[in-house]
Amino acid sequence: MLVLGIETSCDDTAAAVLLGGQTILANVVSSQDEIHGAYGGVVPELASRQHIRKILPIIDGALGKAGVTLKDLGGIAVTHGPGLVGSLLVGLSVAKGMAFRWGIPYVGVNHLEAHLLAIHLEHEVPFPYIALLASGGHTLLYCVQDIGEYLYLGGTRDDAAGEAYDKVAKMMGLGYPGGRVIDSLAKSGDPKAIRFPRARLKKSPYDFSFSGIKTSVLQYLKSQDPQAWKSRVPDIAASFQEAVVDMLITPTISAAVLHKVNRIVLAGGVAANSRLREKINESAAAKNLQVYFPSAKFCTDNAAMIALTGYHWISRGRRNDFTLNADAGLTL
Ligand code: KG4
Ligand code: ZN
Repeated sequence: MLVLGIETSCDDTAAAVLLGGQTILANVVSSQDEIHGAYGGVVPELASRQHIRKILPIIDGALGKAGVTLKDLGGIAVTHGPGLVGSLLVGLSVAKGMAFRWGIPYVGVNHLEAHLLAIHLEHEVPFPYIALLASGGHTLLYCVQDIGEYLYLGGTRDDAAGEAYDKVAKMMGLGYPGGRVIDSLAKSGDPKAIRFPRARLKKSPYDFSFSGIKTSVLQYLKSQDPQAWKSRVPDIAASFQEAVVDMLITPTISAAVLHKVNRIVLAGGVAANSRLREKINESAAAKNLQVYFPSAKFCTDNAAMIALTGYHWISRGRRNDFTLNADAGLTL
């Protein structure tokens, strides 16, 4: 079965074509980073307008690349939440229109579920596994027991990990989104240069908190002469990153050990982080745990993961009717 995936939950307009739930025939993403960069974060109204401009050319591009037409599709999978409501409505409306016109079954996909399953685009990972989903909007820890069976273990009490990256990058004038820039600057910095605090919630060992580190970096910058800290940006980036990475790894490893699950899967934009990958591999190896990472393009928002998730639900007989609405606060 050929499935067209559509993703417009935030600031990436994406379409993908997947064959048999496994073979990616096309995966096209149009990023809006340049548009939002000037504001240091996503501006919802600009995001929806850009999705409107891009969605049809991106879908056409994906179908063309895959060498298929709408008539060949066995299903359409579209993100219907969570995300920015105006952005979600663009993808959902287009999916409904195509499904109605061509009589194609369509399903709404939960964006979080798609991140948790993205690993299956490239790796055969048996269930169960502990999944850390760290992105710009979410930091969540789940035990993924099967498709559709997600045991919530914990999540952030305040900012998401990616949001902390983006806000710290903004404080230092490094542009948006901040994760990739900080990751790259940190390579030439000393992670032990500044000791930023690692928040740990003793009563909820699987929960996270990133607002404290953000404030600590801000206080550090304010306490220094601007010329002095500007010459130390790689050290600040590396020290901040080391703290975030530690705060992500500790609950993830203890969840795997305590639940006796020896596989860990990383997901979401922050899972593309080079230091997180390196350090979790070391910590996991010491406990005989296996870690799986999607390629960077499947960590960040993409439509291949939406097509994959939709494929599984369509194959199990799920269908949505045309009353399905966008749900900005959809949970798993
Ligand atoms: O999954 P994603 O594309 O979108 C959301 O669903 O939020 O994640 C985007 C987030 C941004 O906050 C970005 O700064 C962060 O992922 N990110 C990174 C890296 N690449 C992207 N954070 C740390 N290191 C990276 N290499
Ligand atoms: Zn995402």
